[in-house]
Amino acid sequence: MKAAITTTAKYLPEEVMSNFDLERILDTNDEWIQTRTGIKERRILRDPEKATSYMCTEVARQLLEKRGISADEIDLIIVATMTPDMVFPATACLVQGNIQAKNAWGFDLSGACSGFLYALNTGAQFIESGNCKKVMVIGADKMSSILDYTDRSTAILFGDGAAGVILEAAREPGYGVLDARLYSDGAAGRNHLLMPAGGSRFPASHETIDKRMHYIVQDGRQVFKAAVMAMADVAEEIMQRNNLTADSIDWLVPHQANMRIINATAERMGITMEKVMINIENYGNTTAATVPICIAELDEQGKLHTGSNLVLVSFGAGYTWGGIYVKWQ
Ligand code: ACO
Repeated sequence: MKAAITTTAKYLPEEVMSNFDLERILDTNDEWIQTRTGIKERRILRDPEKATSYMCTEVARQLLEKRGISADEIDLIIVATMTPDMVFPATACLVQGNIQAKNAWGFDLSGACSGFLYALNTGAQFIESGNCKKVMVIGADKMSSILDYTDRSTAILFGDGAAGVILEAAREPGYGVLDARLYSDGAAGRNHLLMPAGGSRFPASHETIDKRMHYIVQDGRQVFKAAVMAMADVAEEIMQRNNLTADSIDWLVPHQANMRIINATAERMGITMEKVMINIENYGNTTAATVPICIAELDEQGKLHTGSNLVLVSFGAGYTWGGIYVKWQ
């Protein structure tokens, strides 16, 4: 039996940081940001006491409440993030402890903006194998913790947020996570989008701080070109493999990095923009959280029905990219 998404939830911090707020601290302007990216505002988790695990825990609690189950029933927690609270222990363990899911094991998955797709497909394997009955898959990033607010080329792009799902065996064959094509290319991507220091290559030192190596570094043009090509290619591949036409797809759920990348993907698929889930204007790029936030919002708005065909696509640091076909149950 395939794995179905049975519950969705999201958490966005309350504080809004608009393009106008950024105008006050950076040489940028609302018009440039909106025309180049589609972003109007993003959310920021300002409280220094709260990190990624806090947002994940908020999501996990909502998931349990909505599903009407106790934490004991969760077998596995996968947190996709590139901004874990600490290098170790895993954020998934912190969440497991916070919700007291005493029968669950868990781990973090580092797939940058494709983290949720990687994690969704991983979680689905545990359901399909019969190894787990209920798996929590959460995508979350506190991007404000690694943004250099003196660098206008990256600071404007990202925001904080989290969202997740519970996976369970589908009630009938033909529903759930039906297909996934996931890719990575470290040879092409490793130097274009990264946070250089803080790992074993460049442990924190006065030098790494002086050289501002604990912040995100991106060659936007290179990443943009690669993202446009890869997301459109993988979307087309998912359509072909599953005999999906533009008409038979109900929702394209793309990673929310840049409106121009989303448009290019939709155009290649021949899909009209009414069928593309977009909320980049409100949240910017929340990295591993964009796709599950989109799914949670579609669900909240009553736009997902049994049999709805969803194509999820993403692209991010690594490079990592992929597409997943879900038939909603
Ligand atoms: N405000 C005003 N001007 C700016 C800003 C800003 N915030 N940022 C850059 N500029 C200027 C540049 O200095 C440049 O000026 P110049 O022509 O005088 O040199 C000009 O605007 C154009 O800059 P580009 O970098 O060429 O702008 P581009 O159109 O490529 O847009 C962007 C930049 C938005 C970053 C785009 O390249 C992009 O979206 N890249 C992909 C991002 C992405 O998908 N990342 C992957 C996911 S993230 C993850 O995995 C963590």
